[in-house]
Amino acid sequence: MTARVLTPVSPRQIVLRMPARRDGAALHDLIAHCPPLDLNSRYAYLLLCDHHADTCVVAEVDGRIVGAITAYFPPTRPDTLFVWQVAVDPSMQGQRLASQMLDSLIERCIANRPGGQPLRAVEATISPSNIASRKLFTSFAVRHGVEIVAGLHFSAADFGNGEHEEEWLYRLGPWPVRA
Ligand SMILES: CC(C)(COP(=O)(O)OP(=O)(O)OC[C@H]1O[C@@H](n2cnc3c(N)ncnc32)[C@H](O)[C@@H]1OP(=O)(O)O)[C@@H](O)C(=O)NCCC(=O)NCCS
Repeated sequence: MTARVLTPVSPRQIVLRMPARRDGAALHDLIAHCPPLDLNSRYAYLLLCDHHADTCVVAEVDGRIVGAITAYFPPTRPDTLFVWQVAVDPSMQGQRLASQMLDSLIERCIANRPGGQPLRAVEATISPSNIASRKLFTSFAVRHGVEIVAGLHFSAADFGNGEHEEEWLYRLGPWPVRA
């Protein structure tokens, strides 16, 4: 893995937008620099940018992707936004970028609900050792005034290789319905 050096930027320079197909490779490279996230294939990130752009967000500074959230609506639960991966380049962490991306994504998802259907919940799975992720989602829930319910979802055995920590499902909701 090569080191990447980014100089500090002001919030005004950060652009939050939907990803496009051309962002797939950069998204893959960002995730590669954000342990402990699982790195998926380049093809998987291309698919997310192509099929799920509406429910994903990238943060760009001077044309470089420095943050991203991948998410989708599970086919059997279209009222729930499942957040898959949240990544902020190490040089940009601790500046509320992940929180801004989550807020921006949820605003977009609520605004674009088909037929005005309400969004009921946001879900994510978090491994017990990922304190930053747990803090991020707890803080997100507090900001939006919603409850969190958590329970074991994928056991270590489910991953089948003895190398992956268990994953707990965090469900945030019910999401406030807008008038
Ligand atoms: C987790 C991650 C996305 C947070 O990004 P970030 O932009 O630094 O997060 P924010 O600045 O918006 O912080 C949100 C909250 O989490 C807390 N937080 C962030 N990083 C933290 C850390 N390492 N330890 C403890 N708390 C942390 C912040 O204090 C803040 O809490 P507050 O709102 O109560 O003040 C980033 O650290 C990252 O990319 N990590 C590697 C990948 C990963 O673990 N992703 C999450 C799993 S999907």
